[in-house]
Amino acid sequence: MNLKLKYAELLSNHVDLALDEIKNLIEIPPDSKMGDLAFPCFSLAKKLKNSPVKIAESISGSLEKLPLFKEVKNIGPYVNAFVDPSFIAHGILSEIAENGSGYSSQPENGKNVVVDFSSPNIAKPLAIHHLRSTMIGNSISQLYSKMGYNVIKLNYLGDWGTQFGKLIVAYNKWGSEVEGELTISKINELYVKFSKESSEDNDLNDQARNWFKKLEEGNAEAIKLWKWFKEISLIEFEKIYKKLGITFDVYGGESEHAASFLTVVEKCESLGISSISDGALIVESEDENDPPCLIRKSDGATTYEVRDIAALLDRFDKYEFVKMFYVVGQEQALHFKMLKMVVKKMGLAFSNDCEHISFGFMKFQGKSGSTREGTAILMEDVLNTSVAEVRKRISESGSKRNISEEAIQQIGIGAVVFGDLSKKRVKDSEFIWEEVTSFEGDTGPYLQYTQARCLSIVRKSNHDFMEQADFSGLTEDSEKLVLLKLNQFSEAIINSANNCEPSLLANYLLELAKFTNRFIHGGREEHSKRILQESNLPLQSARTALVHGIAIVLKEGLRLLGISSPEEM
Ligand code: ARG
Repeated sequence: MNLKLKYAELLSNHVDLALDEIKNLIEIPPDSKMGDLAFPCFSLAKKLKNSPVKIAESISGSLEKLPLFKEVKNIGPYVNAFVDPSFIAHGILSEIAENGSGYSSQPENGKNVVVDFSSPNIAKPLAIHHLRSTMIGNSISQLYSKMGYNVIKLNYLGDWGTQFGKLIVAYNKWGSEVEGELTISKINELYVKFSKESSEDNDLNDQARNWFKKLEEGNAEAIKLWKWFKEISLIEFEKIYKKLGITFDVYGGESEHAASFLTVVEKCESLGISSISDGALIVESEDENDPPCLIRKSDGATTYEVRDIAALLDRFDKYEFVKMFYVVGQEQALHFKMLKMVVKKMGLAFSNDCEHISFGFMKFQGKSGSTREGTAILMEDVLNTSVAEVRKRISESGSKRNISEEAIQQIGIGAVVFGDLSKKRVKDSEFIWEEVTSFEGDTGPYLQYTQARCLSIVRKSNHDFMEQADFSGLTEDSEKLVLLKLNQFSEAIINSANNCEPSLLANYLLELAKFTNRFIHGGREEHSKRILQESNLPLQSARTALVHGIAIVLKEGLRLLGISSPEEM
């Protein structure tokens, strides 16, 4: 039910603005005592050259009465409406009950959206900056699917570049010293060792460049080692994706586009947008403060930029996307600016549909680590620590409840994901374990707990609550607030998706949970506010329908963030 639209329709007979304009002006007042919907009269005041308070008075005086709105009155320059909860409850709650997790989903629109996310570099363990890309990208993918788009989740592996020359040199030199099976962390140790030694021995760097060149030329020995590093990496990455419950539609990689880089070179040259500088092929930036985009190095080697350009041309060919999102840390802002710049200079209009979804740094207990120095904070460790924290917390709380191992995993992982996604992505964020794993406050476990609590109430109530319910009994303010919040679910999804900002949905869920707990707690103080009303089945049923609706929305909302919800906690 679109309440803003209903209110706009009511107002439209008395306001000289288009229906859409009215709807877009309608706000939700910060305090529900002032009303549930507010129409500000400032823009009308300018148009009519009259005071906004006078206009608000005259509008509210002339409105006809609709059962949906219990009261409409002007408060200063606003015309505010109070919704009758019993009137909207039936519509909202049966819509949720009928659609289940499909509530607020939009029909498929057949348009493609490509989300490039996670995209780690092989031969390096998954570290925390990839955690952010993985979480944010996954959530954006879920949100766009929910909005009816056909989403292509793409993992663009960093599997090409001079670092593989370095690794081959390191492996050939020190590989025989590695004990046991080769793992990512052992490969990474070789890499770290190379970085250290090469800072004093420049010959090592020359050898590395040489080996990368051989790799680009298809040298069998180089390819064999590279493939092996890649296999080892993928096995470990997939273990972590599985833990997080994340899947990809396509595993791409830079290597695939190393060969087609020549198409990019030809395009640049034939369009006359490139030039030679010190033996390298470059495209000058439009902004004179920016360096040029390096298309081909002076030794003929490909670059990260050119591989990304080739990959982008290929993606548009394959998917004809309406949106191409790159979910990558802010440190690569210049890279994506140049990518768009070159593609725009090529005259390709889809450059406008490519967007860098950037995010800030993340610190855990004050540390952020570095892969180069071998102090990286690994994704796997972060997830394990969180699960261990949750386990400790539960045992220390002395709770007699028997929380399953599966639930502990879900809570621990959910805590990390929510801790990340509940903050605006552009901001740097600091992770404190005591905070993110708490069952109270603005956390994932708090939302999961609220959801499980709702399910447990539904289990205790009568099963045929939808048939038995008398929704006119829902007259409490606490009930109305929850209902209105449930009704805002699709708006929260749309806002979140349009801004590629999962934190908007996360905050919506927190508000819903707060209203929910207030509503449920009411029953502790006053028997008449309890959900389970043995002597009044129609009221008990209506309240159960509300609790059931909340459980569905919380679960689905968490799923859109990439968090699964335990049935019992
Ligand atoms: N592999 C890169 C890194 O780990 C991220 C790749 C992002 N995607 C892209 N199309 N450039 O830093």
